[in-house]
Amino acid sequence: MTLSQLQKTIESHFAAGPSAIGDPSAMTAFFSLRAALESGELRAASPDPASPSGWRVNAWVKQGILLGFRLGVLEELPSGGLSFVDKNTYPVRHFAAGDGVRLVPGGSSIRAGAYLARGVVCMPPMYINAGAWVDEGTMVDSHALVGSCAQIGKRVHLSAAAQIGGVLEPVNASPVVIEDDVLVGGNSGVYEGTIVRRGAVLAAGTILTRGTPLFDLVNGQILRATAELPLIIPENAVVVPGSRAVAKGKGHERARDWSLSLYAPVIVKYRDDKTDLSTTLEDLLR
Ligand SMILES: CC(C)(COP(=O)(O)OP(=O)(O)OC[C@H]1O[C@@H](n2cnc3c(N)ncnc32)[C@H](O)[C@@H]1OP(=O)(O)O)[C@@H](O)C(=O)NCCC(=O)NCCS
Repeated sequence: MTLSQLQKTIESHFAAGPSAIGDPSAMTAFFSLRAALESGELRAASPDPASPSGWRVNAWVKQGILLGFRLGVLEELPSGGLSFVDKNTYPVRHFAAGDGVRLVPGGSSIRAGAYLARGVVCMPPMYINAGAWVDEGTMVDSHALVGSCAQIGKRVHLSAAAQIGGVLEPVNASPVVIEDDVLVGGNSGVYEGTIVRRGAVLAAGTILTRGTPLFDLVNGQILRATAELPLIIPENAVVVPGSRAVAKGKGHERARDWSLSLYAPVIVKYRDDKTDLSTTLEDLLR
């Protein structure tokens, strides 16, 4: 089946609602989709220079992933003494040494339907959800989460406890995109379709959502998501967690009396030699 035939089949089974349950052709289509996702032939969002955000969302892929949840039934998973139960359409992925992915033992899972390129390193415990794409040489450190359909580029460092939000609902929402050579610092969170352009650095503890204004000190601009575009972190921006005084609202004078401030991510500079030094990845660990 070609990808465009698969798209039509998935769309029609998705549109069929609960009546797809028990239809063997729906399950076959879902398994084809899952295999294409795992091999990297297909992805939930793809680079697209013609799109204003630089990325095109393949909404039907997410429909297919949701179809897998609809079709799946709960089953007990083999667990060596522990007890796990999940939809039988989304078992844990198994890897062989020849896949070139290093999955260090200890409480990590990569769900079926996720793509991991060669050279990806997964430090325990971490989790990669269905539909995610993780490209060559990326490090997923301990306690990091790669949410459903998130797109992670080459040589990205997702530091300890970095949380990359997933997006299956609503089905047309864009996934989070972390482009090549980004460093996501420890305890950072990137959610709601935010796009982090190549080479950017998020200092430890930076949180980005659709509603978070980003203060660019270098260019004197405030960057925000719009109705059409998510929050986009510019290429090579170095973002640190900051705060700003409360300046609006009925109680803002009271807020001043109370010395309240709101969280505000700030671009303090664009990548320079010092940043390169601070963020150099240790090749020997890979
Ligand atoms: C952002 C980071 C990479 C530093 O980059 P850098 O280019 O070396 O930044 P600099 O030290 O030149 O700092 C630039 C400015 O930002 C400020 N700054 C740097 N890091 C900051 C942070 N985390 N929070 C707040 N401000 C920060 C500096 O004070 C400096 O401002 P100043 O000139 O007014 O003093 C580093 O702070 C960081 O967060 N690294 C990630 C650490 C991490 O999570 N490791 C994970 C291991 S699992």
